[in-house]
Amino acid sequence: MPLILALESSCDDTSIAIASDSGVLAHVGRSQFIHGHFGGVVPELASREHLAQLLPLTRQALKIAGILPTQIDAFAVTAGPGLPGALMVGTSFAKSLSLVFKKPLIAVHHMHAHIMAHFIDPPQPEFPLLCLTVSGGHTQLVYLKDTFDLEVIGQTLDDAAGEAFDKGARMLGLPYPGGPHIDALAKQGNPHFLHLPVAKVPGLDFSFSGLKTSLRHSLEKGTAHQPDYIETHRADLSASLQRAIVDMLIQKLRSAAQLYPCHDIALAGGVAANVGLQQAAQELCRVIGCRLHLPKPEYCTDNAAMIAQTALYYYQKGHFAAQDLVARPRWPLSAYNLQNIN
Ligand code: KG4
Ligand code: ZN
Repeated sequence: MPLILALESSCDDTSIAIASDSGVLAHVGRSQFIHGHFGGVVPELASREHLAQLLPLTRQALKIAGILPTQIDAFAVTAGPGLPGALMVGTSFAKSLSLVFKKPLIAVHHMHAHIMAHFIDPPQPEFPLLCLTVSGGHTQLVYLKDTFDLEVIGQTLDDAAGEAFDKGARMLGLPYPGGPHIDALAKQGNPHFLHLPVAKVPGLDFSFSGLKTSLRHSLEKGTAHQPDYIETHRADLSASLQRAIVDMLIQKLRSAAQLYPCHDIALAGGVAANVGLQQAAQELCRVIGCRLHLPKPEYCTDNAAMIAQTALYYYQKGHFAAQDLVARPRWPLSAYNLQNIN
């Protein structure tokens, strides 16, 4: 039963997890709220924060799990995609641990790990699995015949769904990251208050940039007539924005389920925490007779437990990274298979 210590530092969350086949023994992390002041992630600050947090968090995780670093069987790390500096801090730290304790290193793909988060706790999905991964940096539809046998069947042509939430929230005067604020406000608002057209994109790809422009024009028009238009209608505007984003996601998920038959559908990534999206996906699955898997809230956003879970599969296959591992900030999941992981 291997013991894996995994770390995640690809964006603005620093997280450490210790896991084995029997489950997660420790999972600690820190979100970098400092970026809120700047309205988005500042890469240099993210790297510095990771550097400051990785060692204390590792010590904390080991203490919680009640184990010594010498008992760890492999060290796993997010090798990409993500912010170059943030990834470099994480991979360097993991390489040092691997060298010092003479245990193998495992390089994990962040987007693969978001999907594998569903396998941390039961009930685990069954293959073939259709997963909609929606985060601040990515929006993808992935079809998996098995753990490592996957195909990206659709993705965004411009902004990611989380980005659409965050940029829209900013226009509505909400703090960064805006997704959770939109989610909370949408519960009290009228989703039909404003009609934001959903872009017509062929196939299974997504587009969210038109939505942003459309919202901006509507807000300009609204405030021209009523200076406090945004303040007065913030909940309705949030509900309308959420509805438009969710409509696009669900439309493509429905088409994907028709083209790629499966019994299990999953939502992954930070935006999977969105209540409107969860409800719409529940309804779709009820209609088409599929089983929906929603990750636990702590496994939706970036976390090291999903890195540890994915690393367990690599360990089982005996697939380890070389000590000269280089972080891959741009690592398309579509180019991903076990042969070219390192
Ligand atoms: O997966 P994640 O933690 O980090 C990335 O890899 O990007 O996702 C972060 C994104 C942010 O854009 C955030 O606004 C969004 O997920 N998010 C949400 C919710 N919670 C987080 N968006 C909508 N509704 C939510 N409840
Ligand atoms: Zn992520």
